[in-house]
Amino acid sequence: MISLKTKVWLSILAAPAALIFIYVITMQVRNPETRWDWNEIEVDTIDFPPGFQWGVATSSHQVEGNCNNNWSRWEASFKADGTPRIHNGDRSIVACDHWNRYKEDIELIKALGVSVYRFSVEWSKIEPEAGHFDESAIQHYRDVCLALKAAGITPVVTLHHFTNPLWFEDMGAFENEANIRYFVRFSQRVFDSLKDHVAIWCTINEPAVYTTQGYFNGVWPPGKQNPQLAGEVMKNLLVAHTRVYEALKSRVDGKNYQVGIVKNVFPFDPYNRWNPIDWFVCSILDGVFNQGALDYFQTGKFSFSLPGMDKVKYINKSGIGSLDFIGLNNYSHQRVKSQLNPKEFFRFEFYPNEEMTDMFYPIYPEAIYRSIKRVKDINVPIIITENGIADKNDDHRRRYIERYLYAVSKAIKEGADIRGYYYWSLMDNFEWSEGYEMKFGLYEVDFTTQIRTLREGSKRYMDIVARFSQ
Ligand code: BGC
Repeated sequence: MISLKTKVWLSILAAPAALIFIYVITMQVRNPETRWDWNEIEVDTIDFPPGFQWGVATSSHQVEGNCNNNWSRWEASFKADGTPRIHNGDRSIVACDHWNRYKEDIELIKALGVSVYRFSVEWSKIEPEAGHFDESAIQHYRDVCLALKAAGITPVVTLHHFTNPLWFEDMGAFENEANIRYFVRFSQRVFDSLKDHVAIWCTINEPAVYTTQGYFNGVWPPGKQNPQLAGEVMKNLLVAHTRVYEALKSRVDGKNYQVGIVKNVFPFDPYNRWNPIDWFVCSILDGVFNQGALDYFQTGKFSFSLPGMDKVKYINKSGIGSLDFIGLNNYSHQRVKSQLNPKEFFRFEFYPNEEMTDMFYPIYPEAIYRSIKRVKDINVPIIITENGIADKNDDHRRRYIERYLYAVSKAIKEGADIRGYYYWSLMDNFEWSEGYEMKFGLYEVDFTTQIRTLREGSKRYMDIVARFSQ
């Protein structure tokens, strides 16, 4: 017999329990964690359209060497407890010496059989002081473009890939909307100088990564942990993109150029699909990291909200349509486990059977497929501007490449308008706070001798590129 007291309690709890149940079921239905049976899949049943752009990517600070910017200053500084900020105390210093070795590196790109090289221009070298442009640095990038073209490789330029000149960083960088004009001025200058050689332009690389690492986790410069500011910075980066887009498109022949942003999409999956709190955290993270920017381009509305901050809301109708293409970067997914710890109410934790890369995420090709399906809704062509694996033993690279490309091909067969795929990265390089330990390169780099060696696993990429480049 159930007592009256129990009956009262049950009736009080029934409604919230039902609502939580409906919430969990709705989340499960809306966010399936797609899983394919790789034992059944023939990875060679791929297809890519004629003219598909096969490429490789790098960024200036990670490969060039001798940068004097917010990152080089960060690398030389220490945490409050006196330990270095970068894994193993690494510093970028000469990196791959790509600034001096670009001609040899272009030969390496050519040897892969690809036809595109995505690289970034280093703002701190081009404009070392506010308003003072170094013509020799601009000439350097012109020479790089000319050498690429001579080798039959199309240059794709990124204007901002995480690094700022010190003068820009010291005035608050993208924390202040008023500073955006400096980035627009720089972008116009670079565009005017390189437009004879460059048709495809990426404005800003991964605004959400720059924001969360620099202003939420505080592990990248400027090392702040301030959700409110993170929201402002994210908004300002989107606004900066739109202003640069408008500025470049309104140059005399601007219409002839393709201008887009590079957006990293990381699907968030709950550790326990029956845990409403895991789902709730996933949806907050997804909003901040993925959906906020996607909404901005689809609706012109942006909102950013994390516990402990006032929601940042912004409407800019010119956000809609300020893209000729969207660059999609995807590497994997994240698995979220909530916990009863007010200082850290969730952590990322994977199942023991997930096949891990050397970074803190697994090989999960379905992630790129899911990410494509999301950015597809913006209705502009997609370029996969980055995808690749940190795999120092080179025993997963081959499988990673063939499976992720299978996923890309499947999305194309199902109607996604994907124009190209650029592997990250051409060669091992300075992996930000992870230093030199992460080996993303198709070519291994010996950082003592600067000798580059093709990795075995990379040949899978070369084979696929050769097959679809006829
Ligand atoms: C960044 C690269 C980075 C790569 C691998 C991307 O988020 O754009 O600079 O090296 O991921 O972690």
